[in-house]
Amino acid sequence: MSQAQDNSNDPLHAKKKAWSGRFSEPVDAFVLRYTASVDFDKRMALVDIDGSVAHATMLAKVGVISEQDLADIKRGMAQIREEIQTGKFEWQLELEDVHLNIEARLTALIGDAGKRLHTGRSRNDQVATDIRLYLRGEIDEIIRRVEHLQEVLVAQAEKNYNVIMPGFTHMQVAQPVTFGHHMLAYVEMLERDHARLIDLRHRVNSSPLGAAALAGTTYPIDREYTAKLLGFETVAQNSLDAVSDRDFAIEFCAAASLIMAHISRLSEELVIWMSQRFGFIKLPDRFTTGSSIMPQKKNPDVPETARGKSGRVYGDLMSMLTLMKGTPLAYNKDFQEDKEPVFDAIDTVKDTLRAFCDMMAGVEPQPEAMHQAAQMGFPTATDLADYLVRHGVPFRTAHDIVGQTVRAAAERKCGLEELPLEVLQSFCDKIEADVYPVLSLEGSVKARNHVGGTAPNQVLAQVKRWEEIFNSRK
Ligand code: ARG
Repeated sequence: MSQAQDNSNDPLHAKKKAWSGRFSEPVDAFVLRYTASVDFDKRMALVDIDGSVAHATMLAKVGVISEQDLADIKRGMAQIREEIQTGKFEWQLELEDVHLNIEARLTALIGDAGKRLHTGRSRNDQVATDIRLYLRGEIDEIIRRVEHLQEVLVAQAEKNYNVIMPGFTHMQVAQPVTFGHHMLAYVEMLERDHARLIDLRHRVNSSPLGAAALAGTTYPIDREYTAKLLGFETVAQNSLDAVSDRDFAIEFCAAASLIMAHISRLSEELVIWMSQRFGFIKLPDRFTTGSSIMPQKKNPDVPETARGKSGRVYGDLMSMLTLMKGTPLAYNKDFQEDKEPVFDAIDTVKDTLRAFCDMMAGVEPQPEAMHQAAQMGFPTATDLADYLVRHGVPFRTAHDIVGQTVRAAAERKCGLEELPLEVLQSFCDKIEADVYPVLSLEGSVKARNHVGGTAPNQVLAQVKRWEEIFNSRK
């Protein structure tokens, strides 16, 4: 190429495309906008620089570029990083995406060394690298937030280890449980979310660099070395797969969807518990909002919003699955559409976890309302049946006897524990005065004293177990 043609450093020709050599007319302005990604993929700018510096370091190590080129690239990239962080970087739509924007700026700053950076690389392995690096960092932050929410819920469980509330099945009062036990159920769900994130992080953390466009490259590259520089655990073993695999991102959206599913269940409970009919909890005012017309209102907006936002994360997962479906090997431009759903899932899950960490710490259970509600609906009927079984009555017979007893109590509009002993004995002569503690809510929860049971001392044992797990994470 003669000097006269090589004008890509010339500001007058700054809009020249990196790939425009074989084209006879410029891209249509609308097509450019339609196919460009810089508006959203600039979020990955800093990891794009990390990836480029690692690639250049490797190229210098194997002798493809000079040490001087590497020094220039590092210097140029340091300045670009600074420009991006201080908001001075000028993003250009004409340059399509984050990769070409940064490369063009590098070349403008350092000249020919900037043009050597892309040796042995393609945007296809570059973008696959960027999204993995970016997602890896965000997964680590989401893991921290999941852990924080678990800690908040365990603290609530400890504080309320013996606060009794009705446990429901079919939304009907079933058996009394402890509020602490109820909180710990969510800690278990979050623990599985945590394990999923840690597990999928290994699959995110594999280096596609070196796959180049799709087939690999003719240069004597050292893929292990770039992988090590970037903190990747493994090197992707098939170049076609490396540039076209997005299942790690789909897995992330699936894990994010489950986190949102869990939070939406908690949200629904908070909404119910806060309604006047229940009055089980109070939420701090800063997590509620009023109505523009009804002055008395205090609405649980944060849980409701979170419940609604679970839908958009499921949508992100569905977008990802759909955009991958039927795409032939290797890279396809469709994959550019992976970023917005992944970013949206990241943002939504992070914000939701942040709101819930703060809000759940402020939830104030109302033990009296819970106790009162637990007394409705004969929640210790199973305890009475178990009592009869302990006195030699077969369970099915006991079930029937208790059914009649419940009917008698319902007719008298009283609880089982309020029936006189003679009445109880009229249904079964095995019943003695020692039945009364069994029929109390306190007796009922206390009796479920085994691993996973709702007894207050089991809740405390679980709190201790969780605290040990949290300490081991530090
Ligand atoms: N912006 C593109 C993406 O996000 C980068 C890769 C483009 N590669 C290509 N051959 N056009 O997927």
